[in-house]
Amino acid sequence: MRLDALLSRLGFGSRSETQRLIRVGKVRLDGETVTDPSRSFREEKLFVNGAETDTRLKRTILMNKPKGLLTAAEDPRQETVFSILPRVYAKLSCMPVGRLDKDTTGALLFTTDGELAHRLISPKRDIEKVYVARVDTALCPEDIEAFSKGVVCSDFTAKPALLTILEPHTARITVTEGKYHQVKRMLKATGHETLSLKRIRFGPIVLDEALQEGSYRELTEEETAALYRAAGM
Ligand code: URA
Repeated sequence: MRLDALLSRLGFGSRSETQRLIRVGKVRLDGETVTDPSRSFREEKLFVNGAETDTRLKRTILMNKPKGLLTAAEDPRQETVFSILPRVYAKLSCMPVGRLDKDTTGALLFTTDGELAHRLISPKRDIEKVYVARVDTALCPEDIEAFSKGVVCSDFTAKPALLTILEPHTARITVTEGKYHQVKRMLKATGHETLSLKRIRFGPIVLDEALQEGSYRELTEEETAALYRAAGM
């Protein structure tokens, strides 16, 4: 790939802007200043304005989504999850894997691999999603049973799910589907309003305590391998 095209993909501006950046000597490859925008990039170390730059076009990241952000690429009125990511992720089309509601927090994956995303949210694959929900009324053993049998909601019957009562008003819930308002609707159908909802695991990817709400990190190699395995790739 041409150096000016790579810089453009990485969010350093339009093609003409990155050509200028290169011509004025702001770009180095393996310590050598390059002034030819048509120069091919051959996996060297890339420095732009003196800072080393991650040149990977394939990325998969884990965000601890805070409340108040829409899971969408863009929205004319509301802030989206991209507002807390460096611009490069949108430029690389690193897109959310499924959605979390605006008021839901926790594990949200993003990937540049469309096939991976597609498989991870496919209902065929039964990938587990684990949530912690706080509800308005006390949970009871009948809820566990209803979830294990498949909760009958107003317009769908959920697949069997696992509900564990952690505290009278707090449950851990494992589902393998991702319908709109899935967990809130299952709780509603068993007589509970959801006060808060946090996703703590998506397939093999566990939300670690160290990842603060509103932060993100790249997946480790092991996590990436586990995610691809879960997707059958
Ligand atoms: N279920 C919901 O109801 N909301 C979410 O954001 C995720 C799962």
